[in-house]
Amino acid sequence: MIPHSFIDDLLNSIDIVDAIDRHVPLKKAGANYIACCPFHSEKTPSFTVSPTKQFYHCFGCGAHGNAINFMIEYSGLSFVEAVRDLAASMGMPVPEETASASASHSGVDMKGNSVANARIGDSDISSQDLFAALQTATRFYREQLKTSEKAIAYLKKRGLSGKTAVQFAIGYAPAGWQNLEAVFLDYADARTRQILMQAGLIIINDEGKAYDRFRDRIMFPILNQKGQIVGFGGRVLAQEEPKYLNSPETALFEKGHELYNFFSARRAIRDAGCAIVVEGYMDVIALAEHGINYAVASLGTATTGFHIQRLLRQTDHIIFSFDGDKAGRKAAWRALENSLALLRDGKLLSFLFLPEGEDPDSFVIKYGKEAFEHQLKQTIPLSEFLFKELCAGINLRTDEGRAKLIHEVKPLLQQVAAPALSLILVRRLSELSGMSENELKDVLQINQKHRTPEKKSSHKRRLVTPYRWLILMLLNNPGYRDRLDRGLLEAINENSEEIAALKSLIVFLEQQPHMAVNTSAFSLLAQLQDNPYRTLFEEVQSETLKWDNAIDLEAEFSGALEKLQQLQRNKRIAELYNKPLNMLSEEERRELQQLASVK
Ligand code: UTP
Ligand code: MN
Repeated sequence: MIPHSFIDDLLNSIDIVDAIDRHVPLKKAGANYIACCPFHSEKTPSFTVSPTKQFYHCFGCGAHGNAINFMIEYSGLSFVEAVRDLAASMGMPVPEETASASASHSGVDMKGNSVANARIGDSDISSQDLFAALQTATRFYREQLKTSEKAIAYLKKRGLSGKTAVQFAIGYAPAGWQNLEAVFLDYADARTRQILMQAGLIIINDEGKAYDRFRDRIMFPILNQKGQIVGFGGRVLAQEEPKYLNSPETALFEKGHELYNFFSARRAIRDAGCAIVVEGYMDVIALAEHGINYAVASLGTATTGFHIQRLLRQTDHIIFSFDGDKAGRKAAWRALENSLALLRDGKLLSFLFLPEGEDPDSFVIKYGKEAFEHQLKQTIPLSEFLFKELCAGINLRTDEGRAKLIHEVKPLLQQVAAPALSLILVRRLSELSGMSENELKDVLQINQKHRTPEKKSSHKRRLVTPYRWLILMLLNNPGYRDRLDRGLLEAINENSEEIAALKSLIVFLEQQPHMAVNTSAFSLLAQLQDNPYRTLFEEVQSETLKWDNAIDLEAEFSGALEKLQQLQRNKRIAELYNKPLNMLSEEERRELQQLASVK
């Protein structure tokens, strides 16, 4: 909760003309400013901004609001994120609640702060340094693409036009181990190499030798929701493993947060009235090549609640288009599970399974735009997919089978907060199980009043906190236990299941000092059968669908640690800001100054 008084202060000190002009260049026209409306397509400007009223209004589509509304609508930010963003631009610290800040909340906060030029960890490196490095690298990769015949030939072979390559800022990282050395003039400077490492661009080995992470790969820059480059996906040109190499988790890049192409697709999503979620970079790009610009992709992880929330702010209809194979169905099921709690009546989620062996990329190339759009009209709604999957392998002609169905559907239905959808699902279950709707409501305990707020929010947290990420790291490399700063964890005074689980996992690992460092997550999970957080561990492990050896555990781990430090820092700042100035001791003042001094 941000205090109302602060929001008033913010709106009083900000100038909406500046705030909007940064994103949509405005022209003066009489007392007001005008532009072509960013919320609908038009050729003559009907979007006006009034400096006296501090309000925008579009005479074409009716969009209107204050600076905060604009940031929410335009950048797809949440309310809190929008306030933080605007406050940061004014250099105003945001007061926040401390004790009850939930884990998911802090995740968002942390993100907001990190963009607001926060220092990274304890070093003198700021997020601006990382952004700048990623931008320079992007420029370099794009230049390299222009002169690489083989990279151009590869993209052509995949049906890409130059226009689309430019649209997605696609580049090429040449072969060789130290190309970035010539790109960054002060590469010899240890601080610069530190920046490049923290941006995920180079790897520094045990002997302190630095080399480029991306070599001989087609480079796809990943933008955050403000349009800043936060990482890359890199694809090999030939048949090699790993096929895709992604930037590790860094202070700027959270995989469970970002969606590939989200920033650029927002407008098209609004115009089309729906968003398509696909599995891969190339799916997004091939669709765009064929004029379908409203597709986004998650980045090697399952579709998270966070992703879904973000999309639902832009549109009422999300279509998941995954491969028709087993992995695709599993990914679809995960997306379903993660969205149940977020659904509202009037929002529609549906699933498109292409014929076996096709992905959106190959399909649209083979059959064209119309055929793909025709497929989009024949999707399976969530309610149908849910029962179809659950009923597969259950014999509904037996009492036991029907009981099993009810048992399995129960935890899912309990999450559905949308009243009409909930009713429809119960009705459908009634048809399938032969039990009356009233009986079912009893068994399922899904009366409105039984639903607790915790239940709803618990599913938004998937993969959005560093705690979750650290659990994943430890499961995949128990040896990291020794490198976790215990003090950092001790300092966490909030209670969430994830933190408790993380602590419990550490305790468990400490009790097994002889466990091999290379114990697989699979066998570790087996040993954790009796742990109270077993389900959470399994859930975390299964969230990363494309988890393979290619993942740079080391970099992911230090990225997660950085975030944890950032999180602690931000918390401490908030704590100190919330104290009246005269209550701060000399020491606390110094601490605050030190914490808040940004580069
Ligand atoms: P796919 O293997 O389905 O790739 O992975 P694709 O997009 O069809 O690839 P092309 O068409 O062969 O180029 C889907 C997504 O999973 C992640 C990437 O984000 C990829 O776009 N992935 C896949 C990885 O992160 N690493 C991998 O080794 C493979
Ligand atoms: Mn593909």
